Amino acid sequence: MPTSQLLHESHVWFVVPESICTRSKLDYFQSILSAQEHERWQRLHFDEDRHRYLVSHAMVRELLSCYADMQPAEWQFETQAHGKPEIANAIDHPLRFNLTHTAGLAACIVHLNGDCGIDAESISATRNPQGIARRMFSTDEQDRLLQLAGRQQLEYFFERWTLREAYVKARGTGISFPMRKLCFDIAPEKDIRIHFQPDINDCPSDWHFRLLRPTEQHILAVALHSGPNPAPRLVVREYPEYFD
Ligand SMILES: CC(C)(COP(=O)(O)OP(=O)(O)OC[C@H]1O[C@@H](n2cnc3c(N)ncnc32)[C@H](O)[C@@H]1OP(=O)(O)O)[C@@H](O)C(=O)NCCC(=O)NCCS
Repeated sequence: MPTSQLLHESHVWFVVPESICTRSKLDYFQSILSAQEHERWQRLHFDEDRHRYLVSHAMVRELLSCYADMQPAEWQFETQAHGKPEIANAIDHPLRFNLTHTAGLAACIVHLNGDCGIDAESISATRNPQGIARRMFSTDEQDRLLQLAGRQQLEYFFERWTLREAYVKARGTGISFPMRKLCFDIAPEKDIRIHFQPDINDCPSDWHFRLLRPTEQHILAVALHSGPNPAPRLVVREYPEYFD
């Protein structure tokens, strides 16, 4: 896949980890993990978590190799101050990526030049949306959440939660960022705007957001920083289907 495609596009790849189960594929995935990834993978206690970790991290390696002349096992990553991994290899283009994984889904965004973040959550009724919103949402968003109930409330919560996470993952700050100082406007046709309280040093028009529903059970948010340039077109693909 030519990297030049990323001049005007950003690519989101998603996978249902359980859909990958052939022994030969999983053996191959293990063979391309770094020693450090292998160690983290082996430390995970539950089979489901181990499987998701293996598929997610091998997927990142295989995907990145579509965009640069590098074998999947050769990718090296360095961890930024708050844990965000970035590519450490010397490559021709400033490729950026971000990974998310949750029960039943993993997804990776690949972007050129700017910061990018991605977050997926399974819409689960077991969370405590109101409690989390009190700590993490703006007062307007909290008020709106309280007016909703049932599935509508959960969807409202997870849309705003994943957008926040995608934004802080793009910036690389993790949840040390004061999330209550952000607010999202989501128009019915899903045009999404971010607003900051005045003490946040960032420019809303530099950011582009998208909400996706890769499965009935998952909400996925993407945050892209493009500065004064127009928003790249978002191309969404299912990972194993493209490679099979
Ligand atoms: C680590 C954090 C950046 C994302 O956590 P998360 O939503 O649980 O995790 P995701 O699956 O979306 O992303 C994890 C991946 O993001 C990347 N990542 C790690 N730290 C990161 C950072 N500071 N910025 C961007 N990406 C980061 C890594 O590739 C990581 O994968 P790995 O752990 O397998 O190496 C952080 O924001 C966090 O801890 N969030 C709180 C999660 C939470 O409370 N969820 C409740 C939901 S209701």
